[in-house]
Amino acid sequence: MPQQRRFDHCEDWEYIRSNWDIRPDTNYLNHGSFGISPRPVLEARRRWMDECDRQPMDVYIRLVEPELRRTRERLGRFLGTARTNLALVENATYAMNVVAESFPLGFGDEVLLSDHEYGAVVRIWQRRTERVGAKLVIAKMPERFESVDQVRDAYLAGLTNRTRLAVFSHITSPTALIWPVAEMTKAIRSRGVAVCIDGPHAPAQVPLDLDALDCDFYLASCHKWLCAPLGTGFIYVHPRQQEIMQPLVKSWGLLPPAFPASWDEEFLWQGTRDYSGFLAIPAAIDFLEQIGLDNFRQRTYWLAQLAEQELCKRTGEQPLGDRSGGWYGTMTHVPLPAGDWSNLQRDLWEKFRIEAPVVHFQDRWFIRVSCHLHTTRTNLNHLFQAMDHLLSNRT
Ligand SMILES: Cc1ncc(COP(=O)(O)O)c(C=O)c1O
Repeated sequence: MPQQRRFDHCEDWEYIRSNWDIRPDTNYLNHGSFGISPRPVLEARRRWMDECDRQPMDVYIRLVEPELRRTRERLGRFLGTARTNLALVENATYAMNVVAESFPLGFGDEVLLSDHEYGAVVRIWQRRTERVGAKLVIAKMPERFESVDQVRDAYLAGLTNRTRLAVFSHITSPTALIWPVAEMTKAIRSRGVAVCIDGPHAPAQVPLDLDALDCDFYLASCHKWLCAPLGTGFIYVHPRQQEIMQPLVKSWGLLPPAFPASWDEEFLWQGTRDYSGFLAIPAAIDFLEQIGLDNFRQRTYWLAQLAEQELCKRTGEQPLGDRSGGWYGTMTHVPLPAGDWSNLQRDLWEKFRIEAPVVHFQDRWFIRVSCHLHTTRTNLNHLFQAMDHLLSNRT
């Protein structure tokens, strides 16, 4: 690997930021929900859209399948696994539905989730378990995240001899916490239970080595921290589970006269649709690798830390885990003072043009701030001033 250049100067970060065309009226602090791609990624997608609009036969019949294979190879190298363990899907939600529909469950079986899971994921497993008379068990996690053992053991307490599948986030949506997924996976697998990790916040935000992780399923969206176009994601399936996998949409898999010979080929051709987003994933990986993943994390974690310090000063509250203990990365997650903050997200947008989610979690309100390479100190200062105003003017 070539030696990565270090970016230390404000001008460097300004130059990198100039790759984004974010609407000038907006302080965009919600990359964690919907990422915004930098220009080289949008241009790569645009090139594929144009190609397709000008000569669809050439793209669909001759180019899409080999290009999708190359895309999975590139993504596989980034994630630490082989192309044949990956399928491209629109998003983590789609991927979770694939696991829910493919994984065998019967009456009385249990699926374990935690009380920090994404709401739509809970709904997916509610529907799946209800349909077959299986049970959804929710592990109660500690109020404060203090050590790997404490978090792992709190989750493990939900396992019984009927648990067939353990589902948990790598980085949680309502609480932005980075979970000790390696330790959890090892402990759960040693009890003979399959592991499904919901990881849309992880690619790029934290290093990933899927083969070493040895989970059964790992799902993510590429349109968050990786900055690939909206509507791109993947599902990783360990070889020991590949036989059971079925796409939600049954189509050719491979265009005739070829025939799909493996699980991942079943996911390649899913009917005539827009494949341009998937084909721009390599451009997103190139973009971040050229800057350097270490540089990306150093800068964004630092911004998130600054946001945390300043927000904690204003709210007088402390996050659920200690940032120096590795519980947070590019996102800041700070509790708000007691009270009803249901209008805060709307006020931040309508009065200050700030996009930042305000989350209600276990009877408390939190603000979540996402920092990417387009985030500036000016964006954050604007947020601090807005919070000064909104906290002091609350009725
Ligand atoms: C933990 C988690 N899981 C799943 C999802 C769903 O991701 P998508 O909307 O990209 O399918 C999200 C979205 O924010 C999430 O945070």
